[in-house]
Amino acid sequence: MSEKNAENQAGNASQVPFDASKLRELIKLMEAQAVQDPIMSRLEREEAEEKKAVHEFWSTQPVPKSVEMVEKDGPLHPPLSPEQIRQEPYELSAGLKWSDVDVEDSGDIKELHDLLLENYVEDADSMFRFNYSAEFIRWALMPPGFSKQWHVGVRDEETGELMAFISGIPVDTMVRDKVVRMAEINFLCLHKSLRSQRLAPLLIKEVTRRVHKVGIFQAIYTVGRLLPKPVSTCRYFHRTLNPRKLMDTGFSQKLEGPQLAKLLSVMRLPANASIPGLRPMRKGDVGQVRKLLNRYLKNRAELLPVFSTDAEIAHWFLPREGVIWTYVVDDPEHPGKLTDFVSFYSLPSSVLRTTRAQGKSASKKPVGNAPVRKQHTTVNAAYLFYYGTRTEFEIKLSDEEKAVCGGKKKEKALVKEKENELVKQRLCALVGDALVMANNEKFDVFNCLEMMDNAMFTKELKFGPGDGHLRYYLFNYLARPVEASKIGFVML
Ligand SMILES: CC(C)(COP(=O)(O)OP(=O)(O)OC[C@H]1O[C@@H](n2cnc3c(N)ncnc32)[C@H](O)[C@@H]1OP(=O)(O)O)[C@@H](O)C(=O)NCCC(=O)NCCS
Repeated sequence: MSEKNAENQAGNASQVPFDASKLRELIKLMEAQAVQDPIMSRLEREEAEEKKAVHEFWSTQPVPKSVEMVEKDGPLHPPLSPEQIRQEPYELSAGLKWSDVDVEDSGDIKELHDLLLENYVEDADSMFRFNYSAEFIRWALMPPGFSKQWHVGVRDEETGELMAFISGIPVDTMVRDKVVRMAEINFLCLHKSLRSQRLAPLLIKEVTRRVHKVGIFQAIYTVGRLLPKPVSTCRYFHRTLNPRKLMDTGFSQKLEGPQLAKLLSVMRLPANASIPGLRPMRKGDVGQVRKLLNRYLKNRAELLPVFSTDAEIAHWFLPREGVIWTYVVDDPEHPGKLTDFVSFYSLPSSVLRTTRAQGKSASKKPVGNAPVRKQHTTVNAAYLFYYGTRTEFEIKLSDEEKAVCGGKKKEKALVKEKENELVKQRLCALVGDALVMANNEKFDVFNCLEMMDNAMFTKELKFGPGDGHLRYYLFNYLARPVEASKIGFVML
């Protein structure tokens, strides 16, 4: 999750003449290269290792092999007939039992919250762990059509304690030109005491069995680590909102003196949003947001959810305190007509330990007027959710431009380029305003993945590339690789 400085990337060594100051620049460039290379080589190393890995479980499942080149989209296996679907749950090891988790029940939701709080995803250095609020978990697991049977828990038979969990929710997923009813699998979590005992495959098989029972045979899931075989890989990007806190918690590199002053000034945001007519989404906006979103995703992405009903939009997008924020742009010239929307959600991370340097300084007594480093328990992170804006513009090329193009194909490319430029301008303003709103809500950092059209604004809005990646997987559905910019599916 930690942030790497993006500003180091510019430049081309061959343009650097040989004088002392330029030589220093060259050294800086090489250092910058060294910062980037470990990340690139880590991905390459993971891929090389994965090609040789043996997957006792995944080799038995309908997913492509890591070495396989997928050339055509479609299901791997046909649907199972009811007789082919196992009726009874898989057998658990002694002392454990299956138990549906009722997230509407205050006791169950607290137990699930606590299981995730103590045992869910950590970063590679175990400095941070996701800290989903109970209200967030309810939002994530209770969309229209959800089923309690897909909120699969495992309890200790003796103590009744919740020891493991996996969830599914239904989602219509579009993979290029096909819409497939799928299960969106999430929140796979084992208590730390149950790791490395091959329990995860049982949870996956059990939720699959339950999904099969209602006639769904495909699933979508995301994992940070490499498994057979991702359909896409997206890098995390981070936009600092509260630089001092991010440094104090070890989330980002510590700076001092003029470098810190520069960072604070570069990252400062205005107090108010810039787009006239931007306001929080209300009930009456649901229909227009649905149209904007579906149209945007279908125009721009190859892997996307399809929001078929207003109820789904109301669930996912109407603002919920502390969970999801959605802002629409109500066109001031045509009041009531929405032109865009943008949304983000809150997913804090618990701070498990600070960096070594901070550990040392924290244990020292402050000297004189030296600033006291604050201890923080959480990093408040906002994550970009969906957005939508106009994508069709009536662009007319001038006669001069047409002459330069010299043919229809190039003219079409130029029109596309101009369209993209307009989308880019709008997204910079829209997500820029989302940053202002998130900053006013006291978030410390605003994260997004390198997906959808996010590459259009990350540089302008001062996001930096992180060292984490999220991989997208499909179960029982072969799909040719999807570029990160064509991923239109946000998983919580
Ligand atoms: C992820 C987690 C459930 C895996 O548990 P584990 O004890 O390491 O793994 P098990 O011994 O039970 O099972 C190993 C098998 O599960 C697979 N597996 C591990 N994590 C997986 C994941 N996130 N998704 C799918 N499969 C996974 C392994 O690849 C392996 O199968 P293989 O032999 O075919 O490669 C556990 O580490 C955990 O709870 N981590 C914290 C939460 C987390 O990271 N959740 C995943 C979010 S995507």
